[in-house]
Amino acid sequence: LPRLYHQNVIDHYNNPRNVGSFDKNDPNVGTGLVGAPACGDVMKLQIKIDEESGKIVDACFKTFGCGSAIASSSVATEWVKGKSKDEVLTIKNTEIAKHLSLPPVKLHCSMLAEDAIKAAVKDAEAKRGKMNGSSKAADA
Ligand code: FES
Repeated sequence: LPRLYHQNVIDHYNNPRNVGSFDKNDPNVGTGLVGAPACGDVMKLQIKIDEESGKIVDACFKTFGCGSAIASSSVATEWVKGKSKDEVLTIKNTEIAKHLSLPPVKLHCSMLAEDAIKAAVKDAEAKRGKMNGSSKAADA
């Protein structure tokens, strides 16, 4: 095997952390589903938010994609745990890529993880908005 990949990628690829799914209808779960137009790979990342503290207490992912995308989502689920929604929005794909020492051609794979985190937060906030009654009219 060419020594193209850093040990962190191989580790997260061989032993991905937090593979799985949460119930997307759980009001405390935010789901981010994103795709990379360049290659067609797809990543689903979910976060579970503690209502009281507003912190992300758990995260999981399912990625149909290359090794770098799988490794990036694995790292992302580890990094979001224990953080607030605002904090995780500052996670940059370049940090993930650096952690994994991804080569430049694989940068878009880590971008999927950044996008998935953002989409998951957005979904969680949309749900919260609904629970606050803003969708009453839509229910009527
Ligand atoms: Fe597309 Fe990695 S090659 S996500």
